[in-house]
Amino acid sequence: MAEQLKIVGLVGSLRADSHTRKAVKIALEGAATLGAETELIDLKTYNLVFCDGGSDYPADVHRLRAAVSSAQGIILGTPEYHAGFSGVLKNAIDLMGFAQFGGKMVGLVGVSGGKMGAVNALNGLRTVGRNLHAWVIPEQVSIGDADDAFNDDGRLKNQALEERLHDLGRKVTQFAYLHTSKGARDFLEAWQAAPANPGGEQTAT
Ligand SMILES: Cc1cc2nc3c(=O)[nH]c(=O)nc-3n(C[C@H](O)[C@H](O)[C@H](O)COP(=O)(O)O)c2cc1C
Repeated sequence: MAEQLKIVGLVGSLRADSHTRKAVKIALEGAATLGAETELIDLKTYNLVFCDGGSDYPADVHRLRAAVSSAQGIILGTPEYHAGFSGVLKNAIDLMGFAQFGGKMVGLVGVSGGKMGAVNALNGLRTVGRNLHAWVIPEQVSIGDADDAFNDDGRLKNQALEERLHDLGRKVTQFAYLHTSKGARDFLEAWQAAPANPGGEQTAT
């Protein structure tokens, strides 16, 4: 891709052997195949506090904001926790806002211990993405039975599912490009500057 894009992946689980982390990593591989710079944001490595709605936050909150601000596309990964997405991820999102998410491409990945998958978590995240004025792409990946879904090397046993994750990463990258490339910006500028009706009013014949 002509212009350098950055895609970050946020992992909404702090567990050492997190399946969410493995899944987000695979989605980011897909983004990298299109030349995007990628960064896996492991919330375990950030010293975050609870969001209190204030503005006096420690340095790591600003470090997290800066990492997400630097990206044009975001993969949000979450475990299904009691039929929703994780509190860890919600708190991280609450510590951010429109500045980090507004107008950006977002792809969703969920894992669950049960067979039903992480659909409730993903639906909740989709609503949050809309509220943040992000473009949450329609494709999403849900990995059920997560304890049994991965090999020891972190790859998915199901090749089709692994390809879906790669595809998600690619789609987030492609649509981020369409929204941010010079060609897209020039087109938008020309469109906005164009007269409302350059051909004049039509008259019925
Ligand atoms: C607090 C908690 C709630 C959970 N709730 C659900 C649930 O509602 N449905 C489900 O299928 N699995 C549930 N699980 C299982 C997790 O989705 C599963 O262990 C998943 O692999 C955790 O993600 P991780 O591997 O990235 O840490 C729950 C686990 C925890 C710790």
